[in-house]
Amino acid sequence: ERPDALPHDLAGRRVVVSAGGTREALDPVRYLGNRSSGRQGYALARVAAQRGARVTLVAAHTADLGDPASVEVVRVGSALQLRDAMRDAVRGADAVVMAAAVADFRPVAHAANKIKKGAADPPPLALTTNPDILVELVGAREPGQVVVGFAAETGDESGDPLHHGRAKLDRKGCDLLVVNAVGDGRAFEVADNAGWLLAADGGETELPSGSKALLASRVWDAVAARLRPRA
Ligand code: CTP
Ligand code: CA
Repeated sequence: ERPDALPHDLAGRRVVVSAGGTREALDPVRYLGNRSSGRQGYALARVAAQRGARVTLVAAHTADLGDPASVEVVRVGSALQLRDAMRDAVRGADAVVMAAAVADFRPVAHAANKIKKGAADPPPLALTTNPDILVELVGAREPGQVVVGFAAETGDESGDPLHHGRAKLDRKGCDLLVVNAVGDGRAFEVADNAGWLLAADGGETELPSGSKALLASRVWDAVAARLRPRA
């Protein structure tokens, strides 16, 4: 979609998007990370700006992506840094989209110096659970603020991806959850790249498979429909 073909329905709105994968330091040169490219979050930020919003993009580690035009970019490393940056950024925001791949766990200890190899095998890596930033943002949300989460789900013996998505929406308490079916759903017959947009008010929209920009547009359509009328 060309920018000039997009609606300007987010003019006067402020939105915050997180993107990329957090990196959890073990020592000054090593980290635990994940494969998130950040592309979906960047597409969300770019499309929101094209639709007239003032956008803050809180970016953890990403592929080599150029900054989207007219977007304020805040860079973070770890989940704890992402949490701090989001807390600051969401003040006064109309909508918040958590597209970042937040590490579920971080090493208990962050060694000040590089961990050296010794004669014996290393001790097992001790991990602790990171805070759930999305749940915290939902708990602290300002009146009228629309909060969106993302989830990649596979089917398993307890249910299909949609079932897991609904359960996650309930757990997180956000207004909207973008669910992507990943992996092979085998018994559950899930089409490649199948996605749904689930709403806390019970709405359920199937998402067309297509570009990340197209998905971003569908997400902002749903957000725009839930924003309070302008003061
Ligand atoms: N999320 C978050 N903070 C975390 C973990 C996840 O804010 N510590 C957010 C993600 O950015 C995403 C949503 O929660 O918007 C769902 O992430 P997901 O990893 O699917 O959910 P988890 O609760 O971590 O459950 P699990 O990984 O066990 O499926
Ligand atoms: Ca997780």
